[in-house]
Amino acid sequence: MTDKYAVIGNPIAHSKSPLIHQAFAKQTNQDISYQALLAPLDEFELTIKRLIDDGYKGVNVTVPFKLQAFLLSNHLTPFAQVARAANTLVLERNNIQGHNTDGIGFITDVTQNLNTPLQGVRILLLGAGGAAFGILQSLLENNPSFVIISNRTFSKANEAAKVLSNLIESSNRNTVCMAVPLDDLGDMEFDVIINSTSTGLSDAALPIPNVVFAKNSLAYEMMYGRETPFMAQARANGARVADGLGMLVEQAAQAFYIWRGVRPETTPVIAMLRNRN
Ligand code: ATR
Repeated sequence: MTDKYAVIGNPIAHSKSPLIHQAFAKQTNQDISYQALLAPLDEFELTIKRLIDDGYKGVNVTVPFKLQAFLLSNHLTPFAQVARAANTLVLERNNIQGHNTDGIGFITDVTQNLNTPLQGVRILLLGAGGAAFGILQSLLENNPSFVIISNRTFSKANEAAKVLSNLIESSNRNTVCMAVPLDDLGDMEFDVIINSTSTGLSDAALPIPNVVFAKNSLAYEMMYGRETPFMAQARANGARVADGLGMLVEQAAQAFYIWRGVRPETTPVIAMLRNRN
């Protein structure tokens, strides 16, 4: 029997997840269906209950429901707990498992697809919203030498830095983590610069000094689909530049693995999506 899966969001029409999961299923001969579902803004929980009644085995969750998915879960992985968000649910009649695969997706894209180890490197994380919290646990597990978190609203950078510092302390790691105001980045340089802000949506430029882009650094824009001011600035300063399309496919691959126990090949799927643009 065909196992049913879906991605739930609002809006959802733009989602590439059905395309990605259908490609994974074909490639691995898994008998699944996967569709995009628009949930009314006040009916996330009801939608999930209906899907469980309909025999759905799992869902991906996107904007604006990741916090609600987290709150609805009976069991949460450490990744979801730190992120305070779930993007992948395993649905059973009396049990909802909440996972967050964004961090693993990010790390796999950076370390494997972009051949950039994170061990011992200097990381600048720009932004302190949901996208930043989604990768904190995974950053830590890769033992960078330090992580500076910078954000327009400094108190949120501080909050994220505190979460990361507590994780570092409780796991006996040596990474140093600090919040630094955007206009105090001064003469600091970094090996990996991550833009987790939503500035790319509005074409707003982030006020970061050019010096942050060290020689051979990687500038990672979590958004995909267009050249953002952050990417343009990084390129002009000689950094290697990546957008978030690889992360999108890798977080989906991790969700697919959680559901099906099979790891799909991501390279052809990333290439397929790039060719469609
Ligand atoms: P997401 O889930 O995409 O991370 P979010 O939680 O709303 O969305 O966070 C958006 C991030 O982008 C925040 O770090 C936000 O900065 P503030 O905390 O100061 O709001 C950042 N951001 C959005 N627009 C920005 C802009 N024009 N300049 C600088 N930072 C911006």
